[in-house]
Amino acid sequence: MRHLMSPLDFTVEELDKIFDLAGEIEKDPKRFAHVCDGKKLATCFYEPSTRTRLSFEAAMMNLGGNVIGFSEASSSSAAKGESVSDTIRVISCYADICAMRHPKEGAPMVAASKSLIPVINAGDGGHQHPTQTLTDLLTIRSLKGRLGGYTIGLCGDLKFGRTVHSLIRALLRYDNIHFVFISPEELKIPDYIIDELNEKNASYEEVIKLDDVMGKLDILYMTRVQRERFFNEEDYIRLKNFYILTKEKMLLAKPDMIVLHPLPRVNEISVEVDDDPRAAYFKQAQYGVYVRMALIMTLLNLEA
Ligand code: NCD
Repeated sequence: MRHLMSPLDFTVEELDKIFDLAGEIEKDPKRFAHVCDGKKLATCFYEPSTRTRLSFEAAMMNLGGNVIGFSEASSSSAAKGESVSDTIRVISCYADICAMRHPKEGAPMVAASKSLIPVINAGDGGHQHPTQTLTDLLTIRSLKGRLGGYTIGLCGDLKFGRTVHSLIRALLRYDNIHFVFISPEELKIPDYIIDELNEKNASYEEVIKLDDVMGKLDILYMTRVQRERFFNEEDYIRLKNFYILTKEKMLLAKPDMIVLHPLPRVNEISVEVDDDPRAAYFKQAQYGVYVRMALIMTLLNLEA
């Protein structure tokens, strides 16, 4: 039995298979409509979510399966003091696979160690978010045609943004990528990730101003300032509007640059950018459903 805790849990070859399967699903979704007949997905979300939870649920339903679960800790027995270990033991009796989001780093890992069914980390604190990374990689592969050989700018909250932490780890396995980290001083990429980049001899730079680097990017990955992970509101207010991607800024970008964002967006991308053909964040949300369908099939060893 396999779980998914970090994007590195799959080899590059295994990921390619998942992306190929997602591509087949995109082309002919009907062929997959009964693959999970009689199966259940449990979504155990101890932290708010729209896309991740609903895209998991939509993915399971598209495969013919059913969904059970909870969307906040207060409506689960966690409110009575139950541990995630006990919760997953019980969920193992009810469902075939579980997607878990938790504000504490490592909680899905603890659950996986006690679980009788595959557990998918759907985001743990500021740590990892592997299924968002699968979504991001599938989007890049589909829109750019390859997973290596470009300059990618990651902009915004690089300190607390788990999507960025997961994505960098995953991209470090592909060739010829230049990383441009764009953040205010207070939200710089954590040291442990810089250490990993140095160990792997990765090519990277850290800058504060987006305008200075816009022209050289092939991909711009925008992120939200993670309010819920700040220790004080004053810092959040000071930093929340540090970057706003506007039509004017898009004039500085290459004609084939793509803009990604895991969403939700707050102020960091002006809505006027949505009509730019380079804005790919809503397409990215659609790819998130295909890739989660492929992931569920892979972890449950199912074929169409
Ligand atoms: C991200 C998350 O939850 O980390 N959203 C998502 O899963 N699509 C990003 C965020 O909340 O800013």
